[in-house]
Amino acid sequence: MESKIIKKKYKITLTITACLILVIFFRSIPPANAAFSPKGAKVNEYHKTPKLVDVASIDEVIKAMTLEEKAKMVVGGGMPGMFGNPKAEVEGAVGFTHAIPRLGIPSLLFADGPAGVRISPIRENNSDKDTYYTTAFPIETAMASTWDKEMVEVIGTAIGNEVKEYGLDTLLAPALNLHRNPLGGRNFEYFSEDPVLTGEMGISYVNGVQSNGVGATLKHFVANNQETNRMKIDTIVSQRVLRELYLRGFEIAMKESNPWAVMSAYNQIIGISSSQNKELLTTVLRKEWGFNGLVMSDWFAGFEPIEQMRAGNDLIMPGKNEHITKIINAVKKGELAENILDRNIKHILNIVVKTPSFKGYQHSNNPYLKAHAQIARKAAVDGMVLLKNENMSLPIDKHAKIGLFGNHQIETVKGGTGSGIVHAAYTVSIAEGLMDSGFQLHHGLLNSYKTYISTLRQQQEYKIRPDPLGVDFGFVIPKIPEKPLSADEINSVEKETDLGVIVIGRISGEFEDRENEKGDFLLTDNEQKMIEAVAKQYHSSGKKVVVVLNIGGPIEVASWRDKIDAILLAWQPGQEAGHAVADLLSGVENPSGKLSTTFPVKYKDVPSASNFPGIPEDNPSVVIYQEDIYVGYRYYTTFQVKPAYEFGYGLSYTTFNYQNLKVKKGKNHIDISVDVKNKGDVTGREVVQVYLSPPEGKLDKPALELKAFRKTRELKPNEQETLNFTLNAKDIDSFDEQKSAWIVEKGIYEVKIGSSSEIIQESATFEIDKEIIVEKVNDVLKQPKTGPIG
Ligand code: BGC
Repeated sequence: MESKIIKKKYKITLTITACLILVIFFRSIPPANAAFSPKGAKVNEYHKTPKLVDVASIDEVIKAMTLEEKAKMVVGGGMPGMFGNPKAEVEGAVGFTHAIPRLGIPSLLFADGPAGVRISPIRENNSDKDTYYTTAFPIETAMASTWDKEMVEVIGTAIGNEVKEYGLDTLLAPALNLHRNPLGGRNFEYFSEDPVLTGEMGISYVNGVQSNGVGATLKHFVANNQETNRMKIDTIVSQRVLRELYLRGFEIAMKESNPWAVMSAYNQIIGISSSQNKELLTTVLRKEWGFNGLVMSDWFAGFEPIEQMRAGNDLIMPGKNEHITKIINAVKKGELAENILDRNIKHILNIVVKTPSFKGYQHSNNPYLKAHAQIARKAAVDGMVLLKNENMSLPIDKHAKIGLFGNHQIETVKGGTGSGIVHAAYTVSIAEGLMDSGFQLHHGLLNSYKTYISTLRQQQEYKIRPDPLGVDFGFVIPKIPEKPLSADEINSVEKETDLGVIVIGRISGEFEDRENEKGDFLLTDNEQKMIEAVAKQYHSSGKKVVVVLNIGGPIEVASWRDKIDAILLAWQPGQEAGHAVADLLSGVENPSGKLSTTFPVKYKDVPSASNFPGIPEDNPSVVIYQEDIYVGYRYYTTFQVKPAYEFGYGLSYTTFNYQNLKVKKGKNHIDISVDVKNKGDVTGREVVQVYLSPPEGKLDKPALELKAFRKTRELKPNEQETLNFTLNAKDIDSFDEQKSAWIVEKGIYEVKIGSSSEIIQESATFEIDKEIIVEKVNDVLKQPKTGPIG
């Protein structure tokens, strides 16, 4: 600490001395245009170096930059703590920009999200033993399953507080890619299979983060929907599908929340890397949508820094010296216009002037972690989805004694791995959470799980080891086989308990997609046997069996769900996992989450199953989005393929009644209202979903599409709420490639109010009597006429 102060004092003295020398030097020489000096003008005004003080000063500052400084400004300062680079000032921050002190430009620090801030919790040479833990919130898929915009804004606000108080400037989140295929390795970092739910959650998340005066980054722009060969994969997708699905969530979030930054993706879009794609970054993002923030590349994305500059990728991250050299040489040779650099720098400086670093904010290293843990717990509760509850098996009496089965009761998964990992101070396991809430667990069984797991973890094969990229990326936790259970063990546990709870867990992460295999999408033989045997034993005594799914994305459920009584989908719910599960199992809280992504019966039912992760199969270089607009429920509802659990589905401990739907067509909008009443005898909240079924027209369209949603407030038994929605033309349009325009086709539209995408509670129609051209756009991001999508 003391040495820090001395260093600082030393720096200040040096700076003052340097300034004095400069002033004396400038005073001693006459200005070049001294002969024409207006009377009274001070000589050094002609030589004053401009400083970045506000937006208005940016142009002057850019003018004063040398070419070397310009090139440094558009290239990040390298990956801290890796490749021989020093660690960042905030350890675990994953990138920074170059400072140019003589122009008043500080360095900005970036750290990952989206389930919380990723920084190192323990610092090297940490003499004062301080820790820098952050809060692990539920994964984005779980956040979206709350369908609660206010809740996600509260989460964003908490995350933003941690960004700011730990001395960072911009969070690299939220991630807005779609669940094109349930095996996407990073789907847990993405909200949903639907762009409206994604975009709306994105708005809330960004607004929350940015309310702290720090930035949020929408990533990965665009169609980064798989991990296999993610740096190079060529995504062949039609313009309509891009605009209606994969771009749409970004468009909604960007226009309504004004994020400071957008991160371009790794993958190529029809032959051009996203970070080098001018049509994407300049024509669509800047010109059509009016984005005026900063575009940065994903880490090490793209191949040609000059192309990235031209395309409008303002900042190359994490940045290498060779990029700087290449850019300087290209400008010198006349291959890159300097005004392109100036434009990109302007975008960067527009953000710099808003940051805590620029404003000299003194961070506390003391965010509101205690309060955030409470938010994480409530968010986890609200995002969990009750998938099955035969004969009201749940909630469980609080005096019940539980036989708790499954390895993940101990090794509960709070979130996925890779850059989306969060280093929280703790994770409340499901076993701990149940005990904390007063449930009695069968101790013999609990101890046998503890012993089994700790014994295996000591074996070389199952040892937990730091991630090859370093502990900032967490640990490799080899999957251990499900603890074998003998018939005798199950029998004796059952005799001493009132019900069985089985925990099934999965983890996935960056760099790798999931597999349609046992242990991943499919249950292992041991897991199947455990469900079978536990259910049989408990049912023979008339007792119930509940399964808790601690997973980041869909798994196969159809083959085993009939064997048990209830399923609670807990997702990967963050650090308060066990408490949140206990809150719901005990009925202290009533489940109100609904699926933000479809659970198919079998993997083969997934519309992109035969086109994921691409071709050739052994080492894909191209992925063709042959399923077109029919992604997720758009496919299942149109082609009447019954999923295991559909998009928008989720049960409650109460039931709701929908009535009195009113649909009124105004001049430029449609007003919708519906009454929702709690018909049961416990308080609860309902997610009300507004779908639209289009008339037959010239464009093929899904049977229905989500257009709006709202979650009711807490409704007491018999209490009712009227929910109002307004749809504008932009909300109900489709993209017509022939016209390069968003249009609303004429005909009769059906408004369907659903409690899921398959359970339509009320419906009514309105008519559009002639086609509306909502917006003309540029004919870009096209595949060649001979392209593989017809
Ligand atoms: C990921 C980004 C992340 C970046 C920095 C990349 O590998 O794709 O989501 O923000 O690393 O950690």
